[in-house]
Amino acid sequence: MLSEVLAGALVMGPMTKGSNLPYRRLCVELGARVTMSEMTVARRLKQRRQGEFALIRRFEGEPFFGVQLAGTRPEEMGWAAALVEARGADLVDINCGCPIDHFTRKGLGASLGRQPRRIQRIVEAMKTSVTRIPVTAKIRLGWNDDDRNYLEQARAAVDGGADAIFVHGRTRNGRYRLAADWEAIAAVAAAVPVPVIGNGDLLFPPDLEAARQTGVTAWMTARGALIKPWIFREATEGYRDMDGDERIAIYRRYVALAKAHWGDDAHGLERVRQFVRWHAGFWYRYVPRRPDGSFPSMQGREPDGFARTPLEALLARSDDAALDYVTDALVGGEDIDPAAAPAPDETRTRDLAEVEG
Ligand SMILES: Cc1cc2nc3c(=O)[nH]c(=O)nc-3n(C[C@H](O)[C@H](O)[C@H](O)COP(=O)(O)O)c2cc1C
Repeated sequence: MLSEVLAGALVMGPMTKGSNLPYRRLCVELGARVTMSEMTVARRLKQRRQGEFALIRRFEGEPFFGVQLAGTRPEEMGWAAALVEARGADLVDINCGCPIDHFTRKGLGASLGRQPRRIQRIVEAMKTSVTRIPVTAKIRLGWNDDDRNYLEQARAAVDGGADAIFVHGRTRNGRYRLAADWEAIAAVAAAVPVPVIGNGDLLFPPDLEAARQTGVTAWMTARGALIKPWIFREATEGYRDMDGDERIAIYRRYVALAKAHWGDDAHGLERVRQFVRWHAGFWYRYVPRRPDGSFPSMQGREPDGFARTPLEALLARSDDAALDYVTDALVGGEDIDPAAAPAPDETRTRDLAEVEG
């Protein structure tokens, strides 16, 4: 039963690039029980594109793997749902929230959110095509603040037969500027008879605690998993202060999983490096609990100088020189030595608020 799988779980959210197979594997080792694929475009599966098939691959031992599909045409989405079921997915989800213009212009992602009737027809088609697995929809609160139609979207999905609804508590135009609206998420949970999974800004145990009070069945984290993959363990075991060496051990484990997946010949190592460098752009954002015992928030910024050791200071740097140094040392299996790290350069990686999702 889906509700049993979900009850109390912290789900690893679907993330383009971020939900790559070895990173999901790392998160499962660190306690994740429910994982999701990257957004997979149904049309590209139909065109037999190899890159798209790689996205729906489940790893051996992955406990419960949901595949997220993007599409606009009910029959195509039905066909793709049957395909991912045959390939071993445990759940199939419809992306109704992707904000990126390239996709919304084609009617995909958050554009679907503006057409609840279409969501209903897509769910109906997918329900007819699958034999065993649940069908879900992941929605945002609406297109913008003037069009917060989340209840309509959720009810349409349920009318079509959806087995659960994921709710990211922001509008499409809201991007990541404002904190997620958990009251709206709670309203969806109260309005529909299926499990609701709430999503937005979960980073530390108090965030999870607050989210537990909203009546949702489960929670989902995306950036939280990128910044601190041990968030899944924290969700069940409580906060644990991770020092620099413990963090590096986890990053090294990712490198090992990435090498096992992409290979460690020249071609494989290039992919591994690309991914590690990308992940490093999230890992540096980690900050521990403050000395006064309070917790930072996802949307806030900690003052400079919070780092307690030279290693933490290096790991908190966001300039390219530092991120390249850390990446090369991780991929090459070399020591990470704050004294040997290059001086900061002027570049900064993109702010998280600019990341699309
Ligand atoms: C790098 C990145 C990629 C994302 N890709 C997807 C995606 O493919 N499908 C999707 O439904 N949401 C995607 N999202 C959105 C997340 O699943 C999630 O809804 C959002 O980040 C809010 O959760 P958070 O506050 O825990 O990050 C992405 C987010 C990020 C940061």
